[in-house]
Parts: sequence; C-alpha cells; structure tokens
Amino acid sequence: MKGIVLAGGAGTRLHPVTLSVSKQLLPVYDKPMVYYPLSVLMLAGVREILLISTPDHLPQFRSLLGDGSRLGLELTYAEQPEPRGLADAFVIGADHVGDDTAALVLGDNIFHGPRFAEILERTAADVEGCVLFGYPVGDPERYGVAVTDAGGRLVDIEEKPARPRSNRAITGLYFYDNDVVDIAKNIRPSPRGELEITDVNRVYLERGDAQLVDLGRGFAWLDTGTHDSLLAAGQYLQTLEHRQGVRIACLEEVALRMGFIDAAHCYTLGEQLGDTGYGRYVRAIAVEHGHPGVSDDLF
Ligand code: G1P
Repeated sequence: MKGIVLAGGAGTRLHPVTLSVSKQLLPVYDKPMVYYPLSVLMLAGVREILLISTPDHLPQFRSLLGDGSRLGLELTYAEQPEPRGLADAFVIGADHVGDDTAALVLGDNIFHGPRFAEILERTAADVEGCVLFGYPVGDPERYGVAVTDAGGRLVDIEEKPARPRSNRAITGLYFYDNDVVDIAKNIRPSPRGELEITDVNRVYLERGDAQLVDLGRGFAWLDTGTHDSLLAAGQYLQTLEHRQGVRIACLEEVALRMGFIDAAHCYTLGEQLGDTGYGRYVRAIAVEHGHPGVSDDLF
C-alpha cells in the first residue's frame, strides 16, 4: 500500500499565523501537526509516502522530514500549486500509487483512540473498494456526511449538506483499491473547480464498494481549523500525554514499534533531539526496547 499526505491550502482561517508557515507544520502541543497524520499511515504499515503541498511550503516539509530514511520511510514530495480538491491527490500521485492500493490522509487531521492501530492494520491489509471512517460531530454541515440505514450500512454520502441527514462526519482518512486513480481522473470538477473526494467516494458507493468504519464513542478526531480549535487540540494532547505518560504520534516510537527502525537507531534519534522532554522520551522508548543506554524520566 502507498500513502499520501495532503498538506496543501493557504490556511486562511488561521491568518496571520499561517502567513509564512504551512498550517500543517504548526505545533500541536509538542510536535508539528503533520506528525499526527504521518503516524496514522505508519501505523497502517505504510512506508512509501508522498507528501503534497504548495510550492511555497514544500521546502519546509523537506527540511523537517527529509527523505524519511531516518524513520525507515521512503518519503517523496510533489507540488499542488492551486487548491484543486482532495481527489487531485490521486491525479498528482498517480505514478506514486502505481498499481498498488492507497491511503490518503489530510495533513491537518488528528486521530486518537483505543485500538486505532489495530483497526488501521486490519483495514490496510485487505482493501476492497474504499474504506471511510465516520465520527459523530455537532456540526456535520462542515464536513462530508455519511448516511447509514438501520443496520449501519452506508447508503449515502453528501458534501457539506445545508441540512445534514446524520451527525456522522467522514474524516480525512481514506483507504482505496487501485481504481481510485482512474476514478479521480474521471470525475468532473465541482462548480468551484475542485475534484471533490466525496465524488470519488460516491462512485464507490454506487458500485456497492464503499464501507464505513465507525470511530464512535471514546475516540478523538480533533479539529485544528481555527485558532481556538488548534489550541484546544494542543491542550487535549498535553493533558492526555502527561496523564498517561506516553506521547501520541511520536514518529520515532511508531517507527520502532512497527519494526521500521531498531532500538539503537531510535536511541540515536533521541540523542539528536537533545535535552528536551521529547528527546528523553525517545531515548527511554529505545531503552524499553532493549537498547543498553541510560533511560531518563519519560517527561
Ligand atoms: C474535506 C472533505 C470532507 C471531509 C473533511 C475532513 O473538507 O471535503 O468531506 O469531511 O475534509 O477533514 P475540507 O476540510 O477540505 O473542507
């Protein structure tokens, strides 16, 4: 399976913070926002990942993440000069996907919840059609909305409906079989000139090939679209990380747990992060996994 992180857009709702910095590189508590969606792809076992952003912002992502080899990944980059819709990711990324299955995650989506790693691994192992993830929200009119029948089967998908028929938003994480590339190339642009991911998903739905996984209660899908929601997301993660003594979306830890890197390399990455709480945590995780170094406090 190939992965795509879409981190484009001008982040206008966060101006002036995003006037010179990509929204997806802003800190969410202790790490850049893009770490969170990247960790999702890694937990799904995906190592070949294309990151798409604007020509202005791509250099910032390159300098943060490089070629990904540090984390046992193969990271490549592509430009999206104008916002042309989420489905454009598969037009830009057609060669990257090749004849493989694909997972798309939006660079500003933060997921955290019980057994998420298990769900991801299971989903990625066997993708037929498309797999979407639903999450109950109080403001469904801001999102793609899933309508299900009494048995929980997906029967309709609507993009930002004025009168939503359910409160279940479709989150920014999508798994597809290889048909997605052709489907994305053939859908008609919306009146705004964008290739809507909802139109791609509707093609799968009409074929009877779209599945909805309910993230439901106990799960957190966090919004980062406004100054207030960005701060609230950071505070939520801070509370959780301190209380539980773990870091969420720590890419070095995920790479180690997934077997992409070994404990010795993880410890070196922790040393490079110096005398920071994050660096100490990475070193402690390496020690927990058998590295003979000295473990500091986790936080
Ligand atoms: C996009 C999709 C929408 C989805 C949302 C998730 O909306 O079009 O269907 O629910 O991402 O974050 P956007 O955030 O681009 O307005």
